[in-house]
Amino acid sequence: MEIDVSRRDFAACEGDAVVIPLTKADAPPRALHALDEALGGLCARVWAAGDFTGKSGEVLSLPVDGISAKRLVLIGLGEEKSASRESLRAAGGRTAKVLARAKATRAGVGVPALRRVQPEDAAQALAEGLVLGAYRFDKYKTGNDAPTALERATLLAADARQLPALRRGAALGRAVAESSNFARDLSNEPGGVCTPEHLAEAARGIARSHKLKLSVFGERELAREKMAGILAVGRGSANPPRLIALEYGAAPRGAKNGKKAGKKRPTLVFVGKGITFDSGGISIKPAASMDEMKHDMSGGAAVLGTLRAIADLALPIHAVGIVAAAQNMPDGNAYVPGDVITSARGKTIEVLNTDAEGRIVLSDALHYATSFAPDAIIDLATLTGACLVALGDACCAVLGNDEKLADKVRAAGDATHERAWPLPLWEEHKNAIKGTFGDIVNTGGRNAGVSTAAAFLSHFVGEVPWAHLDIAGVAWTTKETPYYAKGATGFGVRLLVELARHWK
Ligand code: BES
Ligand code: MN
Ligand code: ZN
Repeated sequence: MEIDVSRRDFAACEGDAVVIPLTKADAPPRALHALDEALGGLCARVWAAGDFTGKSGEVLSLPVDGISAKRLVLIGLGEEKSASRESLRAAGGRTAKVLARAKATRAGVGVPALRRVQPEDAAQALAEGLVLGAYRFDKYKTGNDAPTALERATLLAADARQLPALRRGAALGRAVAESSNFARDLSNEPGGVCTPEHLAEAARGIARSHKLKLSVFGERELAREKMAGILAVGRGSANPPRLIALEYGAAPRGAKNGKKAGKKRPTLVFVGKGITFDSGGISIKPAASMDEMKHDMSGGAAVLGTLRAIADLALPIHAVGIVAAAQNMPDGNAYVPGDVITSARGKTIEVLNTDAEGRIVLSDALHYATSFAPDAIIDLATLTGACLVALGDACCAVLGNDEKLADKVRAAGDATHERAWPLPLWEEHKNAIKGTFGDIVNTGGRNAGVSTAAAFLSHFVGEVPWAHLDIAGVAWTTKETPYYAKGATGFGVRLLVELARHWK
């Protein structure tokens, strides 16, 4: 979808629709007066009849005569004083969905003036909503109703002086949301197609198109690197595991870590859980909702999407994206409870439950992450059902070894509405995973499952500032929302790009 910007004149806006997001008002606002004259007082009648008031979630879509566009769409933003970037993201999502139903391919979208939102942020949020809301995963649906996609949205500025800011915001929002959709495609893909090698192939695609450095470790290299955790989890599957490392902004040979400009670029390493299907392995899961475990690589998908967006935006950082990819299956050759694994870091892991596989593959990936001597490591993982129980689908959990980093994650989460809420990682949680036959066990039991999983991970990051995001509750949605369809959300791309953009 193209998104451009133009000076606002609602009545003269051409295309299939003119879309106007509006805050709550008792009568048509001033911005609609010229438009309403051309429409013969339609808006006044709509308000008088109570068909539209600007309440949050309201959508009124009408075919019209008398103006250049074929259709008028009004989108409610709610009370002006509480309208936020998220209100605009939702409005963008609702716009994309109502325009798809109307088979519109070109539309103008008004950018409302809001007290709490700068024009640039407003354009970014609207663009994100439009691109996220237009997403569908229908490649396996047969039938003849070829869906119409919005090809071009033109953001309409109240004031010509806003045009450069709106242009910047729109480009940013579009880039980030397209990379979120890239991640959603990978997560929605069935486990029979999206194998560890499929994730590697996706990374190769990004490396090629964005000129990034890529390493993919197959079984031989994983053995050479002593990554016995990834190998153990992957052993029950006919689809062998991979460790994928995608690198952006590496210092050119000779120049020590980009020192040629005088300033060292920060190095951020993002690590993603890439379990392409989690059956639970020998500790097999119940059948109910097991299909959803095709998205157990959503952390990895978000990491690939983030690297893609960072490269699109040419951010002044050094970023590495690592995906620990494996399929967790029961098999005659599978790893079993009681096994003791020597991880790449040398710590031994006593397996109590093969369904706590995410932390095992991450142990090797986190250790590998430390080899880049990064300023921070941030991992994303659909790690525990306990996170869903604790926090539901409103936010992910953030834990780690560095409060300042956790605060940055929270701030980026608030800004993007991919919110993160802290849970503790204390001595008590580390005590809960002490091993009997190995150094640590891979489950601390039912209680404080998010914290004991993070305590496990903490053994593999050394002294590097590290934040762990448990995204088990937010990577997937079973209901449609203003800018999501059922299925993968791409959670993490917006948050991590925001974090990278404002890194100091
Ligand atoms: N991938 C699951 C966690 C999960 C559950 C993600 C639901 C998304 C939705 C993870 O590998 C898992 O199975 N965790 C176990 C750990 C337990 C055995 C300690 C869990 O949460 O039950
Ligand atoms: Mn599992
Ligand atoms: Zn899992």
